[in-house]
Amino acid sequence: MQKNKLSLKGKDIVSIDQLNKEIIFEIFKTTDVIKKQIKLNKPINDLKGKIVTLLFFEPSSRTFSSFSAAIKKLGGQTIEYQNPLQTSSAIKGETLEDSIKVFATYSDAIIMRHFQNGAAQRAANATDKPFINAGDGSGEHPTQALLDMYTIYKKQGTLNGLIGLMAGDLLYGRTIHSLLKGLSYFSNNTIYLLAPKRLRLPNDFIEKISKKIKLIVINNENEIPKNCHFWYWTRVQKERISDLKEYEKIKNAFIITPELLKKYGNNKLIIMHPLPRIGEIDERIDSDPRALYLRDQIQNGLYARMALLKLILK
Ligand code: NCD
Repeated sequence: MQKNKLSLKGKDIVSIDQLNKEIIFEIFKTTDVIKKQIKLNKPINDLKGKIVTLLFFEPSSRTFSSFSAAIKKLGGQTIEYQNPLQTSSAIKGETLEDSIKVFATYSDAIIMRHFQNGAAQRAANATDKPFINAGDGSGEHPTQALLDMYTIYKKQGTLNGLIGLMAGDLLYGRTIHSLLKGLSYFSNNTIYLLAPKRLRLPNDFIEKISKKIKLIVINNENEIPKNCHFWYWTRVQKERISDLKEYEKIKNAFIITPELLKKYGNNKLIIMHPLPRIGEIDERIDSDPRALYLRDQIQNGLYARMALLKLILK
């Protein structure tokens, strides 16, 4: 995809790398329009007559259902495969490329989640139809980054000059990778990184991103600065750690408790998590108005995905 062209029509979204600031704001603007249309209960027909295939090789509830709802709310229809390794010809050994070519024949776009890094690019290469990456291994999750950035933008009014904290699994967490890349289009951001030693952000990633974002690695909760605009917490990715004993040791290394929030939080802070949460945010935090993971993030996920599909397919 050409970086400086504003139109997303017919484009693939494999990585946040393919976007730029202008395109991100174009998506936000369309997201605002969709949000208004939905609130006013206006019928939306931007995808009328279109079929989109959802191929999810990895478990998903939120992303899968939010894409499915987004397509239907836009007046489109879906072909849905959860777990195609058990339910499609993939079980017979069909290559990913062949499967994609077949589904592309029946549909106007393909949305795929896969457990292998790089599978999204392979799939996108196999078809001329628009392709959206809904998460590939520990690689990227670009639509999650769009909804996360939209959520931050709506609450803080800017994507520049932010101080953020990212915690949990920074090695395998693809939402972290895409969000950092997305924020690197903006200026003067500082991100504190808090992870168990084994799950730190890879050095080459740090090197690349730190040209655009000030990254500060911290090792302990008591190093969390008190002036953060957002905390972005993630679960330890169990399925990507082969030694279960090790997983058990590090899974809840860092937990948001009411005490932690009281000590290091502030009034303007927002608390985010891509979900699912597996114990790393105490449930007593959920009712705090600053906790957006079960509210704004999910809602914005639907709107932002609708906006993206509209811009790509209309
Ligand atoms: C994330 C994912 O799949 O990467 N979930 C999501 O899409 N909201 C985070 C995770 O699984 O930990």
